[in-house]
This record gives sequence, C-alpha cells and structure tokens, in this order.
Amino acid sequence: MNKPELRHIIRERKRQYSSQQLEMLSLSIIERLSQHPKVRSANTILLYYSLPDEVNTHSLIKKLFKENKTILLPKVVSDGNMEIRVYTGEDSLVKGAFQIMEPSGPLYIKYDTIDLAIIPGMSFDKRGNRLGRGKGYYDRFLIRVPSLYKIGVCFDFQKTENVPCELTDVTMNEVL
Ligand SMILES: Nc1ncnc2c1ncn2[C@@H]1O[C@H](COP(=O)(O)OP(=O)(O)OP(=O)(O)O)[C@@H](O)[C@H]1O
Ligand SMILES: [Mg+2]
Repeated sequence: MNKPELRHIIRERKRQYSSQQLEMLSLSIIERLSQHPKVRSANTILLYYSLPDEVNTHSLIKKLFKENKTILLPKVVSDGNMEIRVYTGEDSLVKGAFQIMEPSGPLYIKYDTIDLAIIPGMSFDKRGNRLGRGKGYYDRFLIRVPSLYKIGVCFDFQKTENVPCELTDVTMNEVL
C-alpha cells in the first residue's frame, strides 16, 4: 500500500465517527498523555493545536500552560516549512493556513531546549513510522532536531500494521 492509499483508508475510517465520539475517544488519550512521565518531567513541550478530526489537545494545552510549562506550537510559514512559536494563551491563537489555529507568540529557535514533542499523524505503526497529511512539514522540522523525544498521537482506529515510509520520514520514539 502507498501513502495516498493509506490516507484514503484512514479518512474513510474517520468518517465512521461523529465529532462527539471523537471527543470521547480523545478524553482517555489525553488523560494518558497528561500522566505520561515524559510529559510530567518536561518543561518545554512542542504540541499541536488539534483540528476537529484529530485527538483533541485544547484542554491539555491549557492545563500544561497553567502548570507553567512552556508550550510550543507549529506555524506554517511556506509550502513545506513550519516555524515554532510560544503559546501565550488562547487569545494569542490566530487562524492560519489549513484553518489551523496558530500561535502569534514569540518565535522559538532554541530547538535543542525542547524536551518533548507530541506529534499528530494520519497513521502510525508499532515501530514508530508516521504518516502525516502529506506535506512533509514535520519531517523537515524534526530532521533538524534529531535527539528530540517524539510521541506520536492518534486514535486507535488510525493505527496500522505497516506505515509506508521513505528515507525522509522521521520515526517516533513512541506511539501512544
Ligand atoms: N527533509 C526533507 N527534505 C526534503 N523533502 C522532504 C523532507 N521530508 C519530506 N520531504 C518531502 O515532502 C513530501 C511529503 O512528505 P510525506 O508524504 O512524508 O508527508 P507527511 O509526513 O505525511 O506530512 P506532514 O508531516 O506535513 O504531516 C515528500 O515528497 C517528501 O519526499
Ligand atoms: Mg512523512
């Protein structure tokens, strides 16, 4: 199976769930994530501000921000590239490319001080291979920070036995 075929299958699976069901499924995943030792011990975490069809991270972001952790979010800057900005509260989010809420806080360039990355995917396999939405944003960013600990996050029904991957695909250390 190639990447576009797998994306198609996953999109079909997602369509079987209502937004309420996805909310319910998100709750237990976010609960596990917020108790995760890596999340507990991290001071600076790269997260993602979820779209309606992704594991909902909105409450987790607020919670970790309240705990005085530094929360970083990606912002799409050009076709294929993203930068990292500091989340400074809900008010600082603005709608960017692909209708994703993006941070307007300060640019963050000290990539080596990021303790943990929580990364969404269309699919993951047990070896940590990731399928994204097909633009390579995360691959281009993550290759610059090879030692960063990466946790892949998706709904269970998105996981597959074998995610097709290329040399440029960056592997997760763990899939939740
Ligand atoms: N580091 C890189 N340098 C140059 N091209 C890259 C790099 N990483 C990925 N690409 C290219 O970007 C395109 C999209 O990659 P891929 O299909 O893996 O996206 P994805 O991981 O699913 O997307 P995303 O990370 O945006 O969710 C491919 O043509 C791939 O070769
Ligand atoms: Mg990829």
